[in-house]
Amino acid sequence: MTSIVMSQETFNRLRELIYTRSGLEFPESKKYLLESRLRSRLAAVHCRTFEEYYHFLRFDPQREQEFTELFNCITTNETFFFRDMAQLDCFRHMILPQIIKEREKTKSLRIWSAGCSSGEEPYTLAMIIMEEFPALTGWDVRILGTDISEHMLQAAERGVYGPYAVRHIPPRYLRKYFTGSEGQYTIDPMLRRLVKFSVLNLFDSMRMRTIREIDIIFCRNVLIYFDQEARKRIVTDFYHALRDPGVFVIGFSESLNGINRLFRPMPWNKTIVYYKASAMPAPSMTVAGSSNHRIPQSVNGSAPAIQVTHQGSGQRSSLAPSGTESHPVSAGRMWKRKEGVP
Ligand SMILES: C[S@@+](CC[C@H](N)C(=O)[O-])C[C@H]1O[C@@H](n2cnc3c(N)ncnc32)[C@H](O)[C@@H]1O
Repeated sequence: MTSIVMSQETFNRLRELIYTRSGLEFPESKKYLLESRLRSRLAAVHCRTFEEYYHFLRFDPQREQEFTELFNCITTNETFFFRDMAQLDCFRHMILPQIIKEREKTKSLRIWSAGCSSGEEPYTLAMIIMEEFPALTGWDVRILGTDISEHMLQAAERGVYGPYAVRHIPPRYLRKYFTGSEGQYTIDPMLRRLVKFSVLNLFDSMRMRTIREIDIIFCRNVLIYFDQEARKRIVTDFYHALRDPGVFVIGFSESLNGINRLFRPMPWNKTIVYYKASAMPAPSMTVAGSSNHRIPQSVNGSAPAIQVTHQGSGQRSSLAPSGTESHPVSAGRMWKRKEGVP
């Protein structure tokens, strides 16, 4: 049987349409990828050619539903627990102690994992918080995971993972926060309650602007799929979503060079994170704890060195070890899916 081929003209039209909707870029080199990923959709909506499929996406009354399916097909969803340990060390040793200090009065902490795929990233952050930050006991902690792919968010809500996803989870975390073994690991309900998932297209500025008052945004390994213009727009929306001070974390090998000059890059060991801080903390500021850790100058040289301490690393958490006990880190009100951005 001969497979259906996408003409150059249809490729151009489809990629333009996809870009307008999502900001996702399909350069010439990815024509084959787009073709193979969309082929299954043709049969699903009874189109004989890619040209027909394009017209379906433009004019059919069911087109909105089809865009949901299309995004499920064309996104790259690679992820796993405890990805890029240097960044997570920065989160536990620098970012979180500092933000905790800043929010001491309100005792509220909001973290957003944007482009969270099947949930491994927000659940990793939740595990670190529960295990290593007893100081957050009694706080209103909310972690939001968003993605354009409904399939991925359904998987995140199921919270069942295979050996590949869990391979870097430290064994004691695996024992404590999952049930099952070998083939299938199910996330503990206690952890599940701390994370809310919501469908969100990062290119939808209207909805992006409804998200405010976030302390820390993780958007790792997502911006690489956008072109420079789309990146600029999305990163500006992130900037406005953050409280001041707030922190923005992108992928280990990504950079905001040429994208946004409002954020201050702050190197920490092998990684760089970005601060929104109109008034950076004084150089002598310390965060309570045991061993001081000196934060180096920002790469643009303007930010002061801040002293923070390793607050929870290696400490045993006083938080509830099983889903049967109520959890002292409150998940706050429910962040509902679909409409659930605060
Ligand atoms: C490679 S995964 C990264 C997952 C996780 N952040 C990590 O680093 O492990 C990229 C995710 O970005 C999502 N994504 C792509 N375009 C998006 C858009 N326009 N809006 C929201 N999410 C998007 C994809 O669906 C995918 O799940």
